[in-house]
Order: sequence, then structure tokens, then C-alpha cells
Amino acid sequence: MIHFDPGYADSFLEDNKIDGLQPRLEAAHNTLLNKSGAGNDYLGWRDLLLAPNDALLADIAALAEKIRSNADVFVSVGIGGSYLGATATIQALTPYFKPRAAQTVAAGSDPFEDPDANSDPEILFAGHHMSGAYLRELLSYLDGKSVYLNVISKSGTTLEPALAFRFLRDWMEERFDDADDRIIVTTDPERGALNQLQKEKGYKKYVIPPDVGGRFSVLTPVGLLPIAVAGIDIQSLFYGAVDMCNKLTPVSDNIALTYAAYRNLFLEQGYKTEILATFEPRLDGISGWWQQLYGESEGKELKGLFPAVARYSTDLHSFGQYVQEGQRTLIETFLMPKDDSGDLVVPSQAANLDGLNYLAGKHYTEINRKAYEGTSKAHADGGVPNMTIWLDNISPSSIGACYYFFEHAVAVSGYMLGINPFNQPGVEAYKKEMFSLLGKPGM
Ligand code: PA5
Repeated sequence: MIHFDPGYADSFLEDNKIDGLQPRLEAAHNTLLNKSGAGNDYLGWRDLLLAPNDALLADIAALAEKIRSNADVFVSVGIGGSYLGATATIQALTPYFKPRAAQTVAAGSDPFEDPDANSDPEILFAGHHMSGAYLRELLSYLDGKSVYLNVISKSGTTLEPALAFRFLRDWMEERFDDADDRIIVTTDPERGALNQLQKEKGYKKYVIPPDVGGRFSVLTPVGLLPIAVAGIDIQSLFYGAVDMCNKLTPVSDNIALTYAAYRNLFLEQGYKTEILATFEPRLDGISGWWQQLYGESEGKELKGLFPAVARYSTDLHSFGQYVQEGQRTLIETFLMPKDDSGDLVVPSQAANLDGLNYLAGKHYTEINRKAYEGTSKAHADGGVPNMTIWLDNISPSSIGACYYFFEHAVAVSGYMLGINPFNQPGVEAYKKEMFSLLGKPGM
């Protein structure tokens, strides 16, 4: 399902360094499993896989079906951990080009004759930044469409989603008599302003378990509802993670521990930045999710590798130059699918005016793979240690497995660093300054 290939990493390490790390690695792994480390009240992301709540999965799937049959657009309002998992999964598991229901109808086709063409609501996001222009355009784009809204905020106080929700709620109430039935709240069981609103309006509510931090919440209703509305099989996604959780419980043959080990050894050798690089655009959102997971979990007490992302081969034509020849403080991890569905065969052309007949008969997958292999060798030759995480394919179960793999690895890696991988004290600093500038009472 997921495989780890150390690729060009070993030649950058001194002999036996990995073996020497084993006791610390096992200690960190056991700290996670025994719940004996810092942040041990935030391990709900494992517990929910150890005792799956099938009734909750079924409830979410049923509501998603109802929304799918009634909505043109589903707007998911949230930021950080309340946004990145859903967007990553939807990007990975839905087609690149989707027919838009309203446009198809406007073009004169009959949705009942071709139900599939119009069955998927468009999934849009809001509250994930502070752009007024974006929100204004979104509100105008929504006009005339059947809209459902999911506001997702564990604290209920995060400014970006709270402000966007104020506009969107007003907009919904002006347009729909049943607005309160079209709004779903995903939040803490008790705390926060969203609970007050939810009780007053009677919105459907999903709970974010208090012991699951935002960046670990993709497999809770935070991620699962938007993902299910996108038509993705959340059962397979969730159970892919369950399988990986079981697989990564023993110490032996544990690829999360191996990945954590390499990252920590390179950090100790003075490397500063880890680039997670993809060669399939479908996986770009996973890199964004990974970036938050690793940045927020490890970047504290002046420690941790900076998590950077690269979208190859696109970025080989932008900052590829830096990776090849800039400061030698980079390590690189490739996230590759074995099956990327790129089975287009390059045609031969008699005139060969573009000179590409040397590729005739090859699949796109093979060409993309050679780009990966060439990049990996060139970067290693240029002084960038690199390794590869292989997914068998891009399916709900392998994406679920991938989420758990990265979560387990970052928890172990964080414990090896001697930090609490589950808090994020640093994100409050900018909020304090911003709220003071905005004149928030009490700041
Ligand atoms: O990982 C985290 O805790 C953060 O990224 C939060 O998810 C993000 O700040 C949004 O918080 P909330 O869900 O409380 O609105």
C-alpha cells in the first residue's frame, strides 16, 4: 500500500547511523503508543482508528448523499486543519476537470437524461484566508444556485472562517427559507461561539473530538463530510488509515519509523529544509496538508526541518535551479504513485517535425517516471539527499493510509526532537498583534 525507498539518502549518512538510532526511535514510538509523552491528551487521531465509529461514518455518508442530490454548490468554511485535509483529499480523488451542474443546465442539457453529468455538487472553500475580493466574488457566483454550507472550526473563534461565515450565513438566510437546514456546523462538543449559534438555529452539528488537533482531524467529520459530499468513498478512506495504523503498530518493518529516522539524522547533520515533491498534480494538496502537519508539529523551540513543497516537473522550471545548486541545506522526499493512470501512449508522426518520435510508443507514466528518476539522481549528484514514499495508487484507501503514515511519523519524529508534537503555541503570536490592531475587546 505504501512503501519507503531510501533512494539516494544512505550515501549522505555516516556508516551505521540509522542502526545507532534504533533505541531512540523505538523509545519515541513507544511513547506514542503508551501515551506517555507530551501532548498525550491529543492522541484521539489514533484512538478513532483503533475503535472505528461506523455509525458516524454512515451518518456522514447519508447526509452527504442528501446534499449531493439537492446542492449545486457545497461551501466548506474553515482554515488550517479545518480545511487542508478536505481540499487535499478532494483534489487527489476527484477528476481534474469536472462538469459544473449549473453551466451544464444553462447549456441546455437535461440533467434527468444524463444524471451523472450533473450529480456532483461543486465543492468550494471559504474562510481559508482574508480576501474580501474572493468572498465578494464567491457570493456573486453562488447567486441562483442551490447552496449548502459547512462551517468547520474547532475553537469557533478563528477569525477567517468566523468572518466568512457571518457573510455567508446572512446570504443564506436572505435566499433560502430552509437556510437553517442547509447549514452544518462542525465544532467542539461544547466550547466556542459556533455552539451558541448552532443551538439557537438548530443547525445539524458534527463534533470534533476534543483530543484531536486540527492538523490531525482529516478523518473526523472535519474532513469526512466535505470529502463525502465530493462523492468519495469515506469508508475506504477511513479503513485505509485503520489498516496502516495496524501495520505501523509493531516496531519491526515500520516505514514510519524509518522515515522519521532519516529526517532526524539529516536534521542532526545540519540540513534545514525538507522538500516534499510530487510529480502528479493530483497529489499537490497532500503536500499542502503535509506542510501544515510537519510545520506545526515540529517547528518549535528553534527545532525542526522547514517543510517546503515542490510540484514537479512544473517547479523544476522555477526553483529547480536552487534545489540543484543553491545552499546545500535541503533534503527531498518524493511522494510518488506507482499507478498514476497516465496510460496515454505517445503517437508516432511521419513528419516528426517536433522531433519527438524518440518518445513514440511510450506511456506518459513512463516519461513522468523518467523525469522523477532523472531528478532524483541529479539532485543527489548536486548534494541533496533524497528518498521516496511510494503509494500503490491514488485511491481512497491509499490516501487514508498515507495520512496515517505521515501522522505516525511526525509524532515519532517530534518525540525524537524532544518537543510536544501536538501543540502550536506559535500560531497565537500573529493573532495577538492582528487583534490588537483591529481593536478586539480585551486585546
Ligand atoms: O492545526 C491547528 O490546530 C490549526 O491549523 C487549526 O486547525 C486552525 O487554526 C483552525 O482552527 P479552528 O478549527 O479552531 O478554527
